[in-house]
Amino acid sequence: ATVRTPLIAGNWKMNFDHLQAIAFVQKLAWTLKDAAHDYDDVEVAIFPPFTDLRSVQTLVQADKLELKYGGQDVSTHVSGAYTGEISAQFLKKLDCDYAIVGHSERRYRHVESDETVAAKAKAARDAELVPLICVGETAKDLERHEPSAVPANQLRGALIDFKAGDDFVVAYEPVWAIGAGAAATPEQAQNVASVLRRVVAQATDEATAQKTRILYGGSVKADNIVGFMKSPDIDGVLVGGASLDVEGFASIVRYKK
Ligand code: G3P
Repeated sequence: ATVRTPLIAGNWKMNFDHLQAIAFVQKLAWTLKDAAHDYDDVEVAIFPPFTDLRSVQTLVQADKLELKYGGQDVSTHVSGAYTGEISAQFLKKLDCDYAIVGHSERRYRHVESDETVAAKAKAARDAELVPLICVGETAKDLERHEPSAVPANQLRGALIDFKAGDDFVVAYEPVWAIGAGAAATPEQAQNVASVLRRVVAQATDEATAQKTRILYGGSVKADNIVGFMKSPDIDGVLVGGASLDVEGFASIVRYKK
């Protein structure tokens, strides 16, 4: 994983209003300030609710923070009569770098199909955002399929409009490990991640597969991140619950320490 810049991403889900977001980002910047040397080559990104993004942008720009941010979802449409939707163009205008697409909470609770996820990934890419494409199997899937089968299929579906050279990130999040307290083992995650890298190579080309970052997500904490980061095909983590605590998230960012 040495050629790929590690990405430590915090998915806030539906937590923190814009005032809490401001307080969080200020405290995070302060906490990491004197520790720059131990996370120099690590990219850090947060995914706050849409209503927080403008506040985050203002802070990041005013204080020149080395902090990327993005939306937790994106519309398949550019603009128009789509009540409640937020377009990739709107996110780009707020200087977002990323947009999460296909998070399992959207796939299962909001019934998003592989086609919808593919359209969202494309919408993000077309607006020059980097789509962070989430895939992962449920416990039920594991009863019938080998661990990589469902995530590999989801990724194939999501990359249908992608080509060699496109910029995207993959997050492998086994649904059974999300918010569960118990993460997958680094070996389990590595096995699936290596299959996903093959899927990327087939959908694009080998060079693209080598530069594409594959993250692990599901109950990542400061005390288990190192095992994942040592795995050759895992290039970062997507953190939910543990990203909501400044100190905890800062220790995850400083995993090399
Ligand atoms: O997107 C990150 C997420 O689904 C993992 O959540 O709380 O298990 O870290 P958590």
